[in-house]
Amino acid sequence: MADLTALTQEARAEVAAATDGAALESARVRWLGKKGILTEQLKELGRLPATERPAAGARINEAKAELSEAIEARRALLERADIEAKLTAGRIDVTLPGRGAEPGGLHPVTRARLRIETLFRRAGFDVASGPEIEDDFHNFEALNIPKNHPARALHDTFYFPDGRLLRTHTSPVQIRSLLERGAPLAIIAPGRVYRCDSDMTHSPMFHQLEGLVVGEHVSFANMKAALHGFLQAFFERDLAMRLRPSYFPFTEPSAEVDMSCVFCGGAGCRTCKQTGWLEISGCGMVHPNVLKASGVDPERFTGYAFGAGIDRLAMLRYGVNDLRLFFENDLRFLRQFRAFSS
Ligand code: FA5
Ligand code: MG
Repeated sequence: MADLTALTQEARAEVAAATDGAALESARVRWLGKKGILTEQLKELGRLPATERPAAGARINEAKAELSEAIEARRALLERADIEAKLTAGRIDVTLPGRGAEPGGLHPVTRARLRIETLFRRAGFDVASGPEIEDDFHNFEALNIPKNHPARALHDTFYFPDGRLLRTHTSPVQIRSLLERGAPLAIIAPGRVYRCDSDMTHSPMFHQLEGLVVGEHVSFANMKAALHGFLQAFFERDLAMRLRPSYFPFTEPSAEVDMSCVFCGGAGCRTCKQTGWLEISGCGMVHPNVLKASGVDPERFTGYAFGAGIDRLAMLRYGVNDLRLFFENDLRFLRQFRAFSS
């Protein structure tokens, strides 16, 4: 039999010299494969006297096991080195500027909201907010819309199983603000509202701007002046505005604010449904029941409120004829608004 120690040393040297997986594998086959040099040694055992065979066999198997271990250790080392090399080669310099990074911009509805907030703050209003998940009390009950009131049918409400709901308008913020701050006050409350409704001028999620002014001598004329002043400032041009008698359970008297359609100049088109007008807001004098529900004395205080569609205001200011474009996230559409400063 060959000198096992010398063979093992030779094999180990070969393993140590292997610099990649392929070289290592061919070393393994050469020494430990079916016809490998060490494997062949086992076949020689038959030539030994029977008494020496077990000990010689054990030594060969031990040598094979040790070599096999050495090969696995070498393989692990080579693999780690390989990964290191790949990581180094593919290292990303995070301090480099990104490729094709485009400047972002504010969404047109956000622009409109910020513009509205600036204008009203200048006029002395505070900006208030309330939760989008509301309860029946704030969204309906306290706004003089009791259970089974027909006005509930006008709000296509999304309900949660526990009876809470996605607010259908920003008017619940009237109640929350009055309960929290009391009268007198002047607030606007912009925010998201939800209705089961969708076409060219309606979307299931849209934005409203609530306005509420409560004080000792607040009149309908004050409201008209405030709305007109706001619209002039917002559009920076003379668009016709009209107040149309309407009905809301939480205001009395109530009106709807229309602006002449910017797309057809009032002649009638698809966007304004041939009327020449676009409804942008509801408004009216706060109903005494609403003041009472909010802990305000209706004998002493009066107030006006309005609820405008921010998306509609954005459509009119930026000349967008389909509301749904705002919510489709089409970059070709959104990119056009980078040019607007507000
Ligand atoms: C209301 O929601 C009342 N809370 C408004 C109000 C507040 C009246 C305070 C009086 C006092 P209305 O459902 O009409 O009213 O909605 C108000 C405005 O939101 C509309 O004039 C319109 O501009 C906008 N709007 C209504 N539904 C949608 C919709 N689905 N998509 C986009 N805008 C809408
Ligand atoms: Mg309406």
